Amino acid sequence: MDATQKKAAAAKAALEYIVPGTVLGVGTGSTVNMLIDMLPDVRDHIEAVVSSSKASTALLKENGFEVKTLNEIGDIDVYVDGADECNKHLQLIKGGGGALTREKVLAAAARRFVCIVDDSKLVGMLGAFPVPIEVLPMAQEFVSRRLLKMRGNPVWRDGFVTDNGNHILDVDGLQIPNPVEMEARINRIPGVVTVGIFADRPADLLLIADDSGVREMRV
Ligand code: 5RP
Repeated sequence: MDATQKKAAAAKAALEYIVPGTVLGVGTGSTVNMLIDMLPDVRDHIEAVVSSSKASTALLKENGFEVKTLNEIGDIDVYVDGADECNKHLQLIKGGGGALTREKVLAAAARRFVCIVDDSKLVGMLGAFPVPIEVLPMAQEFVSRRLLKMRGNPVWRDGFVTDNGNHILDVDGLQIPNPVEMEARINRIPGVVTVGIFADRPADLLLIADDSGVREMRV
């Protein structure tokens, strides 16, 4: 199976968790796009759907779904999203698509967070994938200097503006033996909106596709 087939297999496996009456949260990215295109098959099970990005909202609407806001729906039963990296504790790096802040809000509001990935995303220690950080544009240089002091190499994602009107720094070189501590430390820098380390609220279930099929990992 190539990476696209694995992503499709992981997305399909997530459909099982969308049971009748589900208030569904939908993430962002190529894996989630495949899930969205499969959602019409379980339309009758979906009580309401909320999205983490303008891109996912547009695709949901193309598939005939009315997209609600988090304010309208309250809590989410199941949040399904991809990841850029994951470890065996189901802690994640996310934000390759730049939607990390809304993704983190939806994950926090969810009773169950189901993460769908192909096996290339599973790593021993998080941090080989540059950590995305959403920053206020006026604080970008200040935050970059703070990250340099932490031995990270921040690179501005030139020309990219998030759905919230902010910028992204992609930070290479961070050693992340303790993701919970690193998440809190970076979030404390004034001007940081969100760091793409999802450790304080990890996934509850990882659906990971490899050549032999889709495995489930739980903490
Ligand atoms: C978007 C994300 C995505 O979940 C992450 O980038 C994985 O994307 P893909 O499914 O395309 O590999 O965090 O902000």
